[in-house]
Amino acid sequence: MIKTAFFDTKSYDIPSFSQYSVQSGIEYKFLETKLTEDTAELARGCDAVCVFVNDTVNAAVIDKLYEYGVKIIALRCAGYNNVDIRRAYGKVHVVHVPAYSPYAVAEHTAALLLTSIRRIHKAYNRTRDFNFSLNGLTGFDLHGKTAGIIGTGKIGCIFMDICRGFGMNVIAYDLFPREGSGIEYVSLQELFERSDIISLHCPLTEETRHLINEQAIEKMKKGVVILNTSRGGLIDAEALLQGLRARKVGAACLDVYEEEADIFFEDRSGHILDDELLSRLISLPNVIVTSHQAFLTEEALQNIAETTVGNIRSFFDNDGICQNELCYHCGNIQECRKARKERCF
Ligand code: NAI
Repeated sequence: MIKTAFFDTKSYDIPSFSQYSVQSGIEYKFLETKLTEDTAELARGCDAVCVFVNDTVNAAVIDKLYEYGVKIIALRCAGYNNVDIRRAYGKVHVVHVPAYSPYAVAEHTAALLLTSIRRIHKAYNRTRDFNFSLNGLTGFDLHGKTAGIIGTGKIGCIFMDICRGFGMNVIAYDLFPREGSGIEYVSLQELFERSDIISLHCPLTEETRHLINEQAIEKMKKGVVILNTSRGGLIDAEALLQGLRARKVGAACLDVYEEEADIFFEDRSGHILDDELLSRLISLPNVIVTSHQAFLTEEALQNIAETTVGNIRSFFDNDGICQNELCYHCGNIQECRKARKERCF
């Protein structure tokens, strides 16, 4: 049996992963706690650890896992900005789930957009209270508006199709434009200037951190709607708050937040939220926050479990070769050994 410490377990993880337990030869140690320097000890004696978006997999944690003999860190998500993959190189292999349901995330983005601009969140609360007034519920048509998409990967492309379905004009920015895709690529500056709606679908890197900041918001159209279902760090939340308060930003829909790690995924009702900035954002009538929920569909959970189990099995069965392994050479054609179907190290 492959012993796997499963950190940050939620109730919805257990059924999807347990169904593969016997046939896959993986024995899970389901732990509610997140992986941190203090909790890494719980992985002692395990062959693998399975982690999610808000587990800490920094240099210190990697060193500890290596010392405990952990061979593989299996991310049950796509993004890996919480993992120091450079530190992991040569010590512990890192695998991820590159795509589990890009539709889930793109559709959630659309749900947030429609909820926000048609004031559904307000109408829902009103009619439950038998308040049938329409005052303050005026929205606007999406048809004919311009959507600016940052990151035209799997999720960005699906969201672009949804926008086109509404009759929107779509423009995009990507560091690596898709040749021959017919997508109208523009510079970031032009995207900020022309878009009525801006949606973020690029990864969080040193380059993209606070991509949406004070200067970017200054360039945007008055009333712009900003959607972020990617990673919180893409937005300087303080600058966003100022933009909203100045009535420059018309609305913001956030499924992610830079400081979400100790807040999202938990029931904090009945507590006073210590994060002043998040409290202020949530208090605004034109801000909708969901707590990193965009991925949460039955199809996605099934795909996450299937791919994660496949990744772990592939690693132990194929002499450490796993198609979904990540290392800091990824994307660098010269150095990427995985591209040559070899193990990363
Ligand atoms: P992907 O890898 O298919 O696409 C990412 C795109 O961003 C690529 O086209 C890439 O060229 C582009 N890109 C990279 N660096 C860039 C830069 N500096 N500026 C502009 N574009 C850049 O990824 P996918 O599957 O579409 O996911 C996008 C993001 O969505 C992920 O990075 C992840 O953070 C987030 N995500 C959020 C989830 C949620 O539940 N809220 C669930 C899954 C993913």
